[in-house]
Amino acid sequence: METWDTDIVLQEKSTWVALLEHSTQINKQSLSQLFLTDNQRGQNMAIQSGQLYLDYSKNRLTSQTVNLLMNLAKECKLKEKIEAMFLGKKVNQSEHRAALHIALRAPLGDHVYLDQENLVPQVQQSLMRMRIISDRIREGKMKGATGRVIKNIIHIGIGGSDLGPFMLYEALKFYSDRGLCLRFVSNVDSSDFYEATRDLHPEECLFIVCSKSFTTTETLSNTRLARAWCLAHIDSEEVVAKHFIAVSANEHAVAEFGIDISTMFVLWDWTGGRYSIDSAVGLSVMIAIGASNFYEFLCGMHEMDQHFLHTPFHENMPVLLGMIAIWNNNFQKTSSLAILPYSHYLRRFPAYLQQLAMESNGKHVDVNGHQLSFSTCPIYWGEPGTNAQHSFYQLLHQGTSVFSADFIGFCQPLPNELTSQDQLVANLIAQTAVLAFGNQSLPLSNGVNGIATTTLEPYQICVGNHSSNTILADTLTPTSIGQLIALYEHSVFTQGAIWNINSFDQWGVESGKKMADSIAPYLRSAGLSSDHQHDIDTSTQQLIQHYLSKRGG
Ligand code: F6P
Repeated sequence: METWDTDIVLQEKSTWVALLEHSTQINKQSLSQLFLTDNQRGQNMAIQSGQLYLDYSKNRLTSQTVNLLMNLAKECKLKEKIEAMFLGKKVNQSEHRAALHIALRAPLGDHVYLDQENLVPQVQQSLMRMRIISDRIREGKMKGATGRVIKNIIHIGIGGSDLGPFMLYEALKFYSDRGLCLRFVSNVDSSDFYEATRDLHPEECLFIVCSKSFTTTETLSNTRLARAWCLAHIDSEEVVAKHFIAVSANEHAVAEFGIDISTMFVLWDWTGGRYSIDSAVGLSVMIAIGASNFYEFLCGMHEMDQHFLHTPFHENMPVLLGMIAIWNNNFQKTSSLAILPYSHYLRRFPAYLQQLAMESNGKHVDVNGHQLSFSTCPIYWGEPGTNAQHSFYQLLHQGTSVFSADFIGFCQPLPNELTSQDQLVANLIAQTAVLAFGNQSLPLSNGVNGIATTTLEPYQICVGNHSSNTILADTLTPTSIGQLIALYEHSVFTQGAIWNINSFDQWGVESGKKMADSIAPYLRSAGLSSDHQHDIDTSTQQLIQHYLSKRGG
């Protein structure tokens, strides 16, 4: 792909060199000092897009840093790369595929082309089929093989075929039909399946099996368990036809498994697993929240897509978030990014973002296969506040790790009549301030900027000076969640574009799968024969032998 090819390595680019020099100047100033030198910093370093407000003032940077970062984006042809993705170019070079997840939320009448074919009509057709099934279930009109009404939806999938819909269902649970039960099964550990189904009756269950490849061991294993469970309890030839729906790109494997392909939903090869939340992989969520809420979610994503494509870099939220992540990672040497949502509903959001960011950008070579000598994706982790405050925030405030954080919150409470919104948001804002300024001289304390207010013992001191972003959405709605997810998708893309890596493949995951496939036969048989021992390291040999000796049976 022409836009990705570059003869100058990133670290030799003039702006990269300028940023390195600039960082030595920035590192001489603390966040408290940066705030003291600009009494409008909080106002100046904030932007709004749709329902999202991003305050990036609590990062260790200045407006000059932002200018340099935007120059770097230009030098790395970010604009051209964004356009290439939207135009359906093969931006996933190693698999020769486009990454056109933006087509999945393009509205009716829009045009998104792949090789001269407009993809929007087939996307809309799939959405219409999703709606028909969703409406039937929500109206209690879908029946199983014995005539009992389907009330329980079991979503089977893993990775991108699980994390997105699971997170989205939790995020939008407030909008869900409480008469329906939606559960997720992903782990190859059959306890996951057992716990998800033990109190349900198979006659009332619909299994939605999501697997782009339809070869993923975990998903196939859980689907076999589901089929066996149904067959053990339902005496009908229609068990699979009435209780299983597949979402996949592999029609052949679906048919071979025995699932009717006429009821199957197609996943196109231009939809990456971790970018499939807005495809038919979201069917279970649509059933839970209803088609119109799901459409609102897609609208939110589309709004962010348009913002990303058309807005100048300085006001472009995904570009800013992505370039600030580059700054923190490569010039401030943070090695992890804490995702801290102040919303119980967003408790699966850190896990979802882990895959989105780390599977996309955890790469050690560029698109040309050249080894990279700078760090790429940091480790993403996190938990919702305020719970996390009573867990790992101690390390954030007084530990020695170098990290940055994204705080996420909502301004208006949900109308559930139990609101503690002010308390929740007070905690969020307070944490961003203490992380930035420490507890010795809070710039905002009693309106006395920068004056030490107390004398503390060493063990009481929080030094501060930790960078963070704060994202505040107006309300937790399908639209704002759509905007938030697309914001992070495009921020991840922005970072990959600067590092010149392929954000859309995941070869590292494959090697782990292959290794597990080669070990499994030894566990099923009597263990390692002497023929194999010289091929396998002694730790692996010993672990296999130990397991077999203790396993019993
Ligand atoms: O974990 C690796 C991976 O290939 C992910 O990228 C993907 O989301 C997941 O496995 C599941 O794959 P599939 O949808 O093909 O079952």
